[in-house]
Amino acid sequence: MVQAWYMDDSTEDPRLPHRAEPARPVGLEQLRRLGVLYWKLDADRYEDDPELEKIRRERNYSWMDIITICREKLPDYEEKIKMFYEEHLHLDDEIRYVLDGSGYFDVRDEEDRWIRIAMEKGDMITLPAGIYHRFTLDEQNYVKAMRLFVGDPVWTAYNRPADHFPAREQYVALLAQTA
Ligand SMILES: [Fe+2]
Repeated sequence: MVQAWYMDDSTEDPRLPHRAEPARPVGLEQLRRLGVLYWKLDADRYEDDPELEKIRRERNYSWMDIITICREKLPDYEEKIKMFYEEHLHLDDEIRYVLDGSGYFDVRDEEDRWIRIAMEKGDMITLPAGIYHRFTLDEQNYVKAMRLFVGDPVWTAYNRPADHFPAREQYVALLAQTA
């Protein structure tokens, strides 16, 4: 089961858990209302996993690669880490499947509060186009993740404010229906 919670307001190291006190856990149903989809898979068999294949087929996640985020493996590490943690959106879904290590995706809820989603080995997530979000490693400082995409990947991130994009407007309209 996915671990997610509302964040505190502390400006300390983003790699710390930043759980609000008292604790306010967030469940799958609430994430779903934000358009966030989640699957638990067996990461040890990602190369030959019928469950993964089924998701990819049904959702047209045709493209994929594998990225390792840690100081030793990622070129321009410091710069990239900073970039990942800037609040931003994309015009397409962001799909990640953690094969090893761990990290946090933070997403804004319908009232603009941060929800932190703890991603570890076997967790796969889709963030909808137009949702404001960010990513950070946790104290392990290491994640290996599959990046999936519908068609040819576009990595462009639009830092907030980016409210004028149709993808954002569509997302806000979806929130109004579900949240
Ligand atoms: Fe992103």
